[in-house]
Amino acid sequence: MQTQELKKAFGDRLKEHEPLGRYTTFKIGGPADLFFDAKTRDEFVTAVSLGRSAGLPVFILGGGTNILIGDRGIRAFVIKNSTQGITIRGVKGSVEQGNAKRTVFVEADSGVPMNKLVRFTIEEGLSGLEMQLGLQGRGGGAVFMNSKWTRPEGYVGDAVFQATIITPEGAIQSVSKEYFHFAYDYSAIQKTRDIVVSATFALVQAQKERLWEIANSSIAYRRETQPQGVFSAGCTFKNISQAAALTAATPQFTTSAGFLVDHAGLKGYQVGDAQISPLHANFIINLKNAKASDVVELIEKARAAVKEKFGVDLEEEIVRIGEF
Ligand code: EPU
Repeated sequence: MQTQELKKAFGDRLKEHEPLGRYTTFKIGGPADLFFDAKTRDEFVTAVSLGRSAGLPVFILGGGTNILIGDRGIRAFVIKNSTQGITIRGVKGSVEQGNAKRTVFVEADSGVPMNKLVRFTIEEGLSGLEMQLGLQGRGGGAVFMNSKWTRPEGYVGDAVFQATIITPEGAIQSVSKEYFHFAYDYSAIQKTRDIVVSATFALVQAQKERLWEIANSSIAYRRETQPQGVFSAGCTFKNISQAAALTAATPQFTTSAGFLVDHAGLKGYQVGDAQISPLHANFIINLKNAKASDVVELIEKARAAVKEKFGVDLEEEIVRIGEF
């Protein structure tokens, strides 16, 4: 590996065999061959560029929220994205059905925690992301996954206006929302492998108090229905499509993966220290020292039980990374 340039640029901050569990919400995962924590946009872009010039596979680690890293770690240069900038880029006025409407463009570095961004936009009286309060993870990951909330329904991609990306060839480009082809749990960069440097959101001016009400109701619903303050990677499986629910005739035609795992009798089921949450069956919790292999075994157990009971094939929402 040609890592001299990286060593020259980052010195002691470039680490070898860095254990990754601590950087994930699951607290699971083996070491990265090489690791660097990028604090600014410049450092981030430089790290990607130098890593690629050195011929290394590059993996970007954001909030570490939706992933399961294998026990043997990642054979790559892992760049932790700790970029933090949020900037108001401009304002556009228009008139819609006789009412004045102001759209404000907010640019956030891809390493900004979603909760920080959501709070910022609410405090600025800007609507579009308020229902996402409580969403773990960072801007880049939320765009990559098109993270969502269902009450009221809102996808992070809905609010995206444009983004700055690094293409696999190393070009820095500005692309519009359409580029991402956002859909449920999907954006095109999952295929193109572009890296998001920053995203600009188009948000509409609204009453701050009303935005806080919506945000607080999201938080309250999460507290009531989802495990909190535990080591978890969020929802394990994607919800199924309405067509699949109709075909399989699930109870009340539910599309909820959590409901199906629960009613397959698996709430609280454990493999090693990995447990299906007794509160919401679509969450797997690391009770203390769970291994990635325990989580994988639990995922397969839940998938098989749901297939047997409901005839439904569940697809994973958690992304598996590295060697298991
Ligand atoms: N339910 C059960 N048992 C369970 C879990 C749920 O019976 O163990 C029932 C609930 O009582 C409810 C129904 O299933 O009647 C739906 O549950 P919930 O409202 O919790 O929504 P969900 O469909 O399970 C989705 C998203 C969540 C998101 C919530 C709220 C998916 C896979 N899940 O869950 O997303 O937080 O709605 O918007 O789309 C995530 O992406 O990591 C995630 C957790």
